[in-house]
Amino acid sequence: MKRVFSGVQPTGNIHIGNYLGALKQFVELQEEMDCVYCIVDLHSITVPQDPKELRKNSLDVAALYLAIGLDAKKSIIFLQSCVPAHAELAWILMCNTYTGELSRMTQFKDKSREKESAPAGLFTYPVLMAADILLYDTDVVPVGNDQKQHLELTRDIAIRINNKYGKTFVVPEYRGMKVGARVMALDDPNAKMSKSAENIHSRISLLDTPEKIKKSIMKSTTDSDGIIGFDIDQKPGVSNLISIYSAFSGSSIKDIENKYVGSGYGTFKNDLVEIINSAIGPIQQRFNDIRHSQELLTILKDGQERAAFRAEVTLSRVKERFGLGL
Ligand code: TYM
Repeated sequence: MKRVFSGVQPTGNIHIGNYLGALKQFVELQEEMDCVYCIVDLHSITVPQDPKELRKNSLDVAALYLAIGLDAKKSIIFLQSCVPAHAELAWILMCNTYTGELSRMTQFKDKSREKESAPAGLFTYPVLMAADILLYDTDVVPVGNDQKQHLELTRDIAIRINNKYGKTFVVPEYRGMKVGARVMALDDPNAKMSKSAENIHSRISLLDTPEKIKKSIMKSTTDSDGIIGFDIDQKPGVSNLISIYSAFSGSSIKDIENKYVGSGYGTFKNDLVEIINSAIGPIQQRFNDIRHSQELLTILKDGQERAAFRAEVTLSRVKERFGLGL
C-alpha cells in the first residue's frame, strides 16, 4: 500500500484554499493508501506565536481534520512537536542541504522580504518539511501548488543522500488537485489566499459564519464585463470564483459557464454562497461536536504513539547509515 504524508500549520483558521488544495485530497486518499496527517506546530513557530493561541489552533486543526472526514482508524493524526524524531532528522538533513538551495525558496523570499534579519528557522523550514515527509517513507504528498518547490527540494535531498549513503529514503511524489491547487485571494486574484492576509474578506475560513461568507463573496473582486467566463489572464477574479464553485460543487467549468450565460455576477455569487455554506455547514457541526471532547485528545495520543514508532524505525536506519550513535 502506498504511503501518504501531509501537514497543515496551526497558524489560524483553515481556509477554503487549504481545504480545496490539500485537505480534500487527504480524505480521498485515506480510502486507498496508508495515510499520516500531521499538525505541524514546529513549523508555525518560524514566525512569532502566542503560546495559548498556538495550542488552541493546534487543537482546532486536529478537530477540523476529523470534521472534514478523516477517520483515526484509517489515518494517523498527530502533533509534530510530540514526535521528536522530526527535529532530529531535520538536523541530519540540514547537514546535507546547501544554503544556496534554501536561498532560492520563494516562500522564504516572500516572508523575509523587507526584513533586515529573519529567524534561522524560517530559512531552514523546508528542511524540517523534508524530514516530516522522509521519516514516514512517504510515496505521495498531497499539497497545494505553493508547496511544490519544497517538495522538489525534499526529493533532491533524498536522492542526494541515497546516492551518497546507499538507499536510505523513499523519493516522494507531489499530488495536487486539478481544480483548487491554487485558490486566490478574494480581494486580489493575483495573490494566493492565505491565513495571514490582513483583510479577513480575502479568505473564507472553514469556521466562518454564513453571514461572513456571504459578505466576503459579495465583496469579492470581479471585473466590469459581467460575463461568467473562465479566463485566468483577462478575468482572474471571476475565474477564481468559478474554480471555487467547481471544486465545491463537482460541476465542470464548462457546465458552470453554460449555466450562467446571460446571468449577472449577483446571481452567480448568491449561488456560490449557497454552495459553500452547504459544504461547510456539516463540517462546522462535526467540529463543534468533537473540538472539546476527550476523544480528540485520545486520538492525538494514539496517533503520536503510532507515528513515533514508525519514525523511530526510519531514524535508526538513517543513523546507522550515517555512523551516528552506538
Ligand atoms: P500550510 O499550512 O500553509 O497550508 C496547508 C495546505 O494548504 C495548501 N494551501 C493552498 N492550496 C490551495 N490554494 C491556496 N491558496 C492554499 N494555501 C495553502 C498548502 O499547499 C498545504 O498543502 N509547509 C506546509 C506544511 C507542511 C507540510 C509538511 C506539508 C509542513 N510539513 C510535509 C506536506 C508535507 C505549509 O505551510 O502548509
